Amino acid sequence: MQLSKTLGSFCHQTPMRHLVWVAAATLACLSASLLQAAPIASGESHAKNVHPQKVQPWMNTSLSPEQRANLLIRAMTLDEKITMVHGVSPIPIPGYVGYVPPNARLSIPALRLADGRAGVGNDAKGVTLLPAPIAVAASWDVALIHAYGKVLGNEEWRKGTNVSLAPSIDVVRVPEWGRTFESYGEDPYFNGQMAVAEIQGIQSQGPLADANMYLTMNQEQNREKEDSVVDLRTMHEIYLPPFRAAVQEGHVGTFMCAYVKTNGIYSCESPYLLTHLLRQQLGFDGWVMSDWGATHSTIAAAKGGLDQQMPDATYYGQPLKTAVENGKVSIATLDKHVRRILVPMFRQGLFDKPQTGAWATDVRSPEHAAFSRSVAEQGTVLLKNDRNILPLSNSMSVAVVGAAGGSKPKAEGDGSSGVIAPYIITPLQGIRKRAGGKTQISYADGSDLKHAADVARAAQVAIVFVHTDDTEGTDRPDLTLPDHQDQLVAAVAAANSNVVVVLDTGGPVLMPWINNIRGLVEAWYPGQEDGNAIAAILYGDVNPAGKLTLTFPRAATAIPTSTLQQWPGINGISTYSEKLNVGYRWYDATHAQPLFPFGYGLSYTTFQLSHLSITPGNLHKLSSKSNPTIQAEVDITNTGKISGAEVVQVYVEQPAKNGEPPRQLRAFAKVTLNPGQTKHVVMALDARSFSIYNPTAHAWESPDGTYKILVGTSSRDLPLQAKVTVEK
Ligand code: BGC
Repeated sequence: MQLSKTLGSFCHQTPMRHLVWVAAATLACLSASLLQAAPIASGESHAKNVHPQKVQPWMNTSLSPEQRANLLIRAMTLDEKITMVHGVSPIPIPGYVGYVPPNARLSIPALRLADGRAGVGNDAKGVTLLPAPIAVAASWDVALIHAYGKVLGNEEWRKGTNVSLAPSIDVVRVPEWGRTFESYGEDPYFNGQMAVAEIQGIQSQGPLADANMYLTMNQEQNREKEDSVVDLRTMHEIYLPPFRAAVQEGHVGTFMCAYVKTNGIYSCESPYLLTHLLRQQLGFDGWVMSDWGATHSTIAAAKGGLDQQMPDATYYGQPLKTAVENGKVSIATLDKHVRRILVPMFRQGLFDKPQTGAWATDVRSPEHAAFSRSVAEQGTVLLKNDRNILPLSNSMSVAVVGAAGGSKPKAEGDGSSGVIAPYIITPLQGIRKRAGGKTQISYADGSDLKHAADVARAAQVAIVFVHTDDTEGTDRPDLTLPDHQDQLVAAVAAANSNVVVVLDTGGPVLMPWINNIRGLVEAWYPGQEDGNAIAAILYGDVNPAGKLTLTFPRAATAIPTSTLQQWPGINGISTYSEKLNVGYRWYDATHAQPLFPFGYGLSYTTFQLSHLSITPGNLHKLSSKSNPTIQAEVDITNTGKISGAEVVQVYVEQPAKNGEPPRQLRAFAKVTLNPGQTKHVVMALDARSFSIYNPTAHAWESPDGTYKILVGTSSRDLPLQAKVTVEK
């Protein structure tokens, strides 16, 4: 991949990604990679109570985390406090991407931070490669993403990690964003629900989770200097909600502040973002670490609310100590940063449960491999199925076409979320295995159009695998498939009238050939079980039930961020002029026709919704503090011949005077049904569903009026409607 595969994990960053610190760190990297070959020589394992006869007061587990942190802070020297608030580099033990050494005198365990959005990263071996977060999100299955978090947390913990740098929860604003695959999608409420489930999953296994990247991290281009200019209402209604949920419902231990600036100030030194919003408004009491190389100052950052610099000590080592000694940063401020680190550490039990995991441990299991496959199956979205070309019949001869189908499977995205896959089942292998030698399966890698067309012509059905090469550090230049893959699909479609295209992409792409193919499946970056999962979907062993969490546009110009001012910005400023109209909100507001709408996805069976009821239908004096539970109840029936799952989606249309986008997702539920079965589904709508943020009053309010409740199975298929009246 990059430097990472040869040097130590600390060195996985490319120079482009970390201009600020990488030059100084290069030599350190080289020595770190040498050190990694040597046995552990740190005092880590001796961090436990050095005076066993006298239990240190903060080790008393009957005290609260806050009491324990306060007792410990009282015992710490200035140097010991400074040590807590920055990483060290090079890292003196193998593995990890961030490291704070243990303190044997005070029984403080080391902090070992590792990447892990789709599996343990930082060049770890013996780990499971799960499908990308965008894939598990497309399952719309909160229980599945909770389990995904558990597998991640479990493997991280057994690798010795106690801070897991996941999940990435930013709302996807720009479809070309190079890290779209690391996030969940374009809806704030949806991302919040997913974030809570994944965080709780990770933290249930030992490590603290890290909600990232805070805030307005919406592009890679120029990310170390880019200024996101966004109005307050949009910030509160679109970009903040996933982070609010992470704090208030997910009880996440740590946050990572982003590279970018928001409204002129770097995220990692912004008093508004870090202190006002995160602490005072959302009540976050854990710590904020900087993204790698995203700290830009000592005093401004310390006063602004940054608790910990990662991965090194440039600003928070000696410079911070000096600033404290000469009174530029008060000791009370430093104590606050240390307390915010210690409280979640105590709360999570990091002082109390021995961390016996080690980087060298092989943490895989057959269960995790099976889980990886199941996530890939559940996250796959069936987008087109003209005259039921799918599922394939066992007797059909099949041509598999495209690099991603065989010679170069596209199982994951690139960058810091990269995982060393133990193996990848290619689609060709998966399809051959599934076909069991009963029929002819041929292959063309697509590098030669004529050969691909010939192979396709000779088979009854052609399955073309196309991909994008999404990576942290760069955005896609546009939404066109790279490497002339559009020509490949066109050539195959000209040779065979039964073409199914499988997308292994990190996000939306344009599909000029859409009318010439019969089947279309979005498989995202499906992880190590790629081929087994796609074969199960194509042959109907698994009934697809995924739904898009991003709108797929018809044209490059027909997207919410089509001007240069919006993306990638002009003179370093990206103007969020689309305001609240992010993702499907923009398509609805401008009456633009998407190619495939948010929430969309087909099945091999059919469903019908009926009997919508809302209780209560009237709300009196709704204030930002009241939290009524409004219940939306509906029946759903599987009207087809096989069992399957459907996602019931509830959108709220606010009164026009509120100035909101036409419809916004406020609840959803995934339901599995046997043929003919009906289930009664109950979903809760909270006060925010009937609220807007007033930037003048700096408060949420619920204007009176009639709110429409729309229920269906995609943002553009909402057959059932009801009303809720908010009265003064
Ligand atoms: C990425 C983070 C990642 C960190 C450590 C940064 O470049 O933005 O998401 O956790 O590197 O690898």
